[in-house]
Amino acid sequence: MRHLTVFSLAVVLGVAALSAGAEELGGYDGAQLYKRLCSSCHGPTGDGDGPVSASFKARPPALSGIAARRGGQFPAERIRQLIDGRTSVAQHGARDMPVWGVDLRAAGADTDAILTRLLEYLRSIQKPGRP
Ligand code: HEC
Repeated sequence: MRHLTVFSLAVVLGVAALSAGAEELGGYDGAQLYKRLCSSCHGPTGDGDGPVSASFKARPPALSGIAARRGGQFPAERIRQLIDGRTSVAQHGARDMPVWGVDLRAAGADTDAILTRLLEYLRSIQKPGRP
């Protein structure tokens, strides 16, 4: 039941965020994309404290700690795949985060360009030593 609720929340958030439309998203830089699509769960500065983060059993991770959790490395290709979600969902089944590779494509957005800008932004907000 709880799982269903969280899943619906993810779907609603994904759809609401994408009501911006492909054209609008295409003109956003990484920080604007992050604010629009990711901050509700991962927090305004990527610290994992977005307004809806408390509804998750496993809190959305701090995205400012991607590198710190991986021994200081930022594996861009792996992180891109995690956000995109199409590969990992095929391998592991459902997840709590919207499957951006599907949602962005469905909205007619340039998925690759958007993921590239998001990754640049995420790299720029890494905090050394953050768990
Ligand atoms: C509906 C809430 C929600 C939204 C919106 C969301 N995420 Fe997530 N995210 C999660 C959760 C929960 C996890 C933990 C894994 C899981 O359960 O799917 C996660 C995991 C991640 C991870 C893996 C972090 C790591 O260190 O392994 C990355 C990267 C990530 N999200 C990036 C993003 C980006 C970029 C966006 C915006 C395009 C975004 N997320 C939007 C909930 C969300």
